[in-house]
Amino acid sequence: MEVLKQGSGREIIKQGDAVRRPLQPWSHSVHRVLAHLHQHGFRHCPRLLATDEQFEQLSFIEGESYDYPLQGSIASESALTSAARMLRKLHDCSALFIEQTATQKMPWMLAPRAPAEVICHGDFAPYNVALQGDLVVGVFDFDCAHPGPRLWDVAYAVYCWAPFKTKADDKLGGLEQQAQRAKLFCDAYGLANHQRKLLVNEMIERLNALVGFMQSQAKRGDQQFQSNLDDGHHLAYLADIEYLQTHRDFIYRALV
Ligand SMILES: Nc1ncnc2c1ncn2[C@@H]1O[C@H](COP(=O)(O)OP(=O)(O)O)[C@@H](O)[C@H]1O
Ligand SMILES: [Mg+2]
Repeated sequence: MEVLKQGSGREIIKQGDAVRRPLQPWSHSVHRVLAHLHQHGFRHCPRLLATDEQFEQLSFIEGESYDYPLQGSIASESALTSAARMLRKLHDCSALFIEQTATQKMPWMLAPRAPAEVICHGDFAPYNVALQGDLVVGVFDFDCAHPGPRLWDVAYAVYCWAPFKTKADDKLGGLEQQAQRAKLFCDAYGLANHQRKLLVNEMIERLNALVGFMQSQAKRGDQQFQSNLDDGHHLAYLADIEYLQTHRDFIYRALV
């Protein structure tokens, strides 16, 4: 047994080939998505193995996992482009789920966003993928998944992978390199030109929604989000919004 993440009552534990995570009110929706993805050709995400009243058991995806600052294999161009290709495949394979469940009301952690084109992973960041060598081979942590536009999910992924982050610990390179990495991500995803034109604004809107979500959850009494606010996590996002606003034109030109 190995503790993957600490947290009283909220630990994430590896037991053999399985990962044990606490169930959430939206877990059943996520389980349906994972099953659909496996049935429709996307096998790079965990499979549901079992549940009890408190926990879910998911299959463990073999590979290395990383966090910020991006260093080593996770900072490579092949990690970046394989991540983008994987997100594209995830989106493509989830489109039918949207059609099949259009009339059903399902709980999600993050509110569905119109137009619901695909299942957005919601947190498609370097810390939620598994690598083998320089290649992204899997993606986990679907707790933030929800129906929404492709661009909504691509925007957050590009923000995380470029990354357009200003905090010293999270930064990689300067603006030019970040914009070039953003373009590489869009190319590998196959993002249409008209969508690239909207990307910086979408990133800003996605980050504003994230800060709003953190604040509303804290207001409702969620201790985890309250302590994130107390630690100033939202200030980092607000600084990144300002960074994106300041460099909007430069990034736009690099992307289009
Ligand atoms: N199915 C999985 N396969 C491989 N590693 C996993 C899996 N689920 C979780 N992990 C590992 O445990 C860590 C924490 O789990 P995660 O589901 O990302 O929760 P959180 O982001 O809330 O901490 C991940 O960063 C990853 O290293
Ligand atoms: Mg995670």
